[in-house]
Amino acid sequence: MKFGISAFLFASLAVAVHGLGSSDLARIDKKILRTVRQNTATIVRLAFHDCVGGCNGCLNVNNPDNAGLQGVVEALEELYVENEFDALLSRADYWAYAGQLALRQAVSVTDGVEESDLDISFQTGRVDCDTAPYTDDDVELPSATLTYEELTAFYSERFGMNEEQAVAIMGAHTLGHTSPENSGYKGSWVSGEGNLFNNNYYTLMLSEDWIQRNVNNETEPRWQWNAATSRTGMMLNADLCLLKALELDEFGESACTVDTCGKSGGANYVQKFADSQSTWLEKFSKAWTIMQSAGDYTLVDLED
Ligand code: HEM
Repeated sequence: MKFGISAFLFASLAVAVHGLGSSDLARIDKKILRTVRQNTATIVRLAFHDCVGGCNGCLNVNNPDNAGLQGVVEALEELYVENEFDALLSRADYWAYAGQLALRQAVSVTDGVEESDLDISFQTGRVDCDTAPYTDDDVELPSATLTYEELTAFYSERFGMNEEQAVAIMGAHTLGHTSPENSGYKGSWVSGEGNLFNNNYYTLMLSEDWIQRNVNNETEPRWQWNAATSRTGMMLNADLCLLKALELDEFGESACTVDTCGKSGGANYVQKFADSQSTWLEKFSKAWTIMQSAGDYTLVDLED
């Protein structure tokens, strides 16, 4: 009888201390891959927004800065509950993992980029807020009308990133697009290539002439930069500031043009990442890992 109880306690303890392993992630892959494929860019955006203020598996869907993310939160949540993933990992880990899977998915369809170029290994241990997956908290997401100094201050204060890492992480905007109904902006950064993950964000930023346009109305202006010569893409102020010392007013209109604005402190990094895709991917991987580790918890490696 005594032996029976000890064996039971040992077995229970073994279950309790069993951590997340790669076989668990392989099971999660199978269940969520379709959703990830259908929402690649939006899931990468979710993984970023969740980690501003610390990755905690909680999103304030009533914050206009999160417009466009509710659908993926719902789709991921349905799979999380249906498959009892809560026994394996927190939602914060789950969103971080979905973001990583989305990056791998984008790499897999991009010529000239190998999965091994993305040097990101998954660690577990992020802790959810009590009301996951939703919250009323406002984590102060970054504005799209930032200058280079403001943007690098944001990444330094919130993530401890240096300037090169700040410029590298913005390259995620090579994926996906902006929508008038979400943010009020229009178009994709790299037209026709919103599902590819390469350094064209930087090459395009350097090669195009950019013309400033208000794509919304006078009362709620949305100043963005459209490619002048062809329909190749758009840039937010928070993108073009990596290259140019924009002079923005309170509405985001720049007093200087691409020709008259000087270079910003990020220009050398933009050039470096346009020149070498592998350098960008190396720096991006490091910045992504930093971003996905923000918060008050301890991350650990997978068990197997
Ligand atoms: C200063 C920092 C940033 C600002 C101001 C910013 C702003 C924006 C805006 C305005 C949109 C358009 C949303 C919409 O209209 O649907 C967007 C989309 C996106 N952002 Fe960012 N972003 C920033 C940083 C990041 C970072 C660090 C990542 C990822 C590492 C990221 C990934 C994305 C992706 C993938 C999309 C496209 C989403 C889709 O197509 O559904 N962003 N961002």
